[in-house]
Amino acid sequence: MTVLITGAGKGLGRALAVEFSKKGHDLVLVSRNKRDLEETRSLCSTKTEIFNYDISKPENASRLFKSLQKKDIKIDILVNNAGIGYVGLITETSIIQIKELIDTNYMGSVYTTKAFLDEIKSRSGSIIFINSIAGRILIPNFGAYCASKFALDAFAKSLSKEENINIVNVYPGPMNTNFYDNESFKILKKRYFFIDPEIAANKIITKVLKKKKNIVIPSYLRLLILANRIMPGFVRFLFNRFYE
Ligand SMILES: NC(=O)c1ccc[n+]([C@@H]2O[C@H](COP(=O)([O-])OP(=O)(O)OC[C@H]3O[C@@H](n4cnc5c(N)ncnc54)[C@H](OP(=O)(O)O)[C@@H]3O)[C@@H](O)[C@H]2O)c1
Repeated sequence: MTVLITGAGKGLGRALAVEFSKKGHDLVLVSRNKRDLEETRSLCSTKTEIFNYDISKPENASRLFKSLQKKDIKIDILVNNAGIGYVGLITETSIIQIKELIDTNYMGSVYTTKAFLDEIKSRSGSIIFINSIAGRILIPNFGAYCASKFALDAFAKSLSKEENINIVNVYPGPMNTNFYDNESFKILKKRYFFIDPEIAANKIITKVLKKKKNIVIPSYLRLLILANRIMPGFVRFLFNRFYE
């Protein structure tokens, strides 16, 4: 089986590539930085193709599909993982920043899914959406990011109702990755409950193999999602403890 992973140059995407490779799957890896992709490839033991492009540009996913067709490479599992982070009040977030979040976190996954959907369906494959706990809970100061992940959640869930295809939604909590390199994150004063992407990737793949469709990582965060339904004000209060 061949797995296409977006955002595989670092972080969770790289860790997922290594784990899928350990399971014997061939890989197609995408992100913008070629060096990072080469580094990820050097960590993988199965056949690995790399493509450096920007997923937020609509034409790129269909270009990738065509170049894989020429090489006779067919995709069984798509992991929509590439994403960017940003923290800040909506009033203080520029239109350009909001658009970049939507174009990458939401539209990037839409373009890739649309380009590969028919092929994956015909091969009885799977599409895995790496969402976020921020796609289930409105986290204070994460409005623009939450909007991109809530949209992704609606898209993935609607697709799973419309199509006979295995759709898996993954909702990670905070992970120790380059996601937080963005300047905006300096207002985060505490880093509690962060897990390493390698641990998250291992747990995700174990659950995917067990045919789980809604994966929360770490699983105790399910309690937070539940608490947010019953007492959202209290959960918001808890989150506010993390800021300066
Ligand atoms: N870290 C967390 O705490 C956390 C928590 C919940 C959910 N998530 C989600 O997990 C996913 C992976 O994030 P991460 O934590 O691993 O972050 P990361 O370490 O910053 O990795 C993100 C990857 O996505 C790629 N990428 C970003 N924009 C791209 C674009 N326009 N086109 C192609 N590739 C792009 C990056 O490479 P280039 O910059 O070279 O393109 C990089 O390889 C994201 O969807 C994120 O929203 C993260």
